[in-house]
Amino acid sequence: MEYFDRERLASKPAEELITLGIESSCDETAAAVLRGGRGLLADVISTQVPIHRKFGGVVPEIASRNHILNVLPVVDEAIKQAGLKLADIDQIAVTCGPGLVGALLVGVAAAKSLAWSLEVPLIGVNHLEGHIFANFLSSPDLTPPFVALVASGGHTALVNVLDYDRFRLLGQTRDDAAGEAFDKVARVMGLPYPGGPEIDRLSKEGNPQAIDFPKALARDGYEFSFSGLKSAVLNYLNSQKLKNIPVHKADVAASFQQAVIAILVEKSLAALRETGLDTLALAGGVAANSALEAELRRATGEAGYKFYFPNRRLCTDNAAMIACRGYYQSLTDNYEHNDLTLNAVPGLSLSDR
Ligand code: KG4
Ligand code: ZN
Repeated sequence: MEYFDRERLASKPAEELITLGIESSCDETAAAVLRGGRGLLADVISTQVPIHRKFGGVVPEIASRNHILNVLPVVDEAIKQAGLKLADIDQIAVTCGPGLVGALLVGVAAAKSLAWSLEVPLIGVNHLEGHIFANFLSSPDLTPPFVALVASGGHTALVNVLDYDRFRLLGQTRDDAAGEAFDKVARVMGLPYPGGPEIDRLSKEGNPQAIDFPKALARDGYEFSFSGLKSAVLNYLNSQKLKNIPVHKADVAASFQQAVIAILVEKSLAALRETGLDTLALAGGVAANSALEAELRRATGEAGYKFYFPNRRLCTDNAAMIACRGYYQSLTDNYEHNDLTLNAVPGLSLSDR
């Protein structure tokens, strides 16, 4: 027997559908309410960053416990901000992967119990696809096809977004993600977690040409590799220390950031050229990097391409992007909503669809 009321769902025009989004893959517990595909009514994020900062990174067990405490309060707050009641929700989109298994399970369990009690359907969403869809919320004029550069704490990939439900993975990182490299380099420089925003800030006072770090994997099609660059920065810091030469942290930050940006820009432009598409959309936490955004804007502008990126709040983890992704997923032909056996898939990847 079906757990949701299919007739009620079918009776509502798609642009009127109210989607509740839930996100708990890492260290933000978030809920959002969306009308149609792009009408954001509420976007609530409870961040655990101050809790994990003491440990220099996310502690999975602590993340799960805090998600348990926060998940229902953020849902309640989102419904309240939207000026709605729980009974107004038509469908629930929840991140089911990739991410920390214990963290994901909290959002998935909350979404399943709400779906069952409200008799509304459940949509399991790939978090990385969610990041791409954040662009639709920031830019109402954006429509597929376009090339998406996804750069987050766990992933770095170039994707050909052919349509709302057709993606081709062009290439991804072989080792560290761009955000991971930012966080690791920041950590050895004694900067707080998360390191990306710290390096971004410090770089503004430094010279990006000061140190010639290797550009991360300039060959090999659309694949990325950031572990060699990370090691080069660590070796540089160690060798200066051994020689008793004080390091200019802002120069190290700016030179490292420049090396990451150079490769992201180079490969994004290559993807645009070779796919023949004229639009690039940036996605994921690293999209919040001001120098990356500026450099991509300049490079795409010079080459005559259009460039989109989500506003800062929508770059890092949030539930609005999950609701948006879930909404478009539910509109695809013959879409089958998830049943209540939906499970967390920590290793879920971005793949062809
Ligand atoms: O997408 P996200 O919020 O979480 C994941 O899905 O991983 O990305 C978090 C990553 C972290 O590595 C963080 O350091 C990085 O995004 N990040 C930044 C900036 N803001 C966040 N990296 C560089 N510059 C920033 N301004
Ligand atoms: Zn993310």
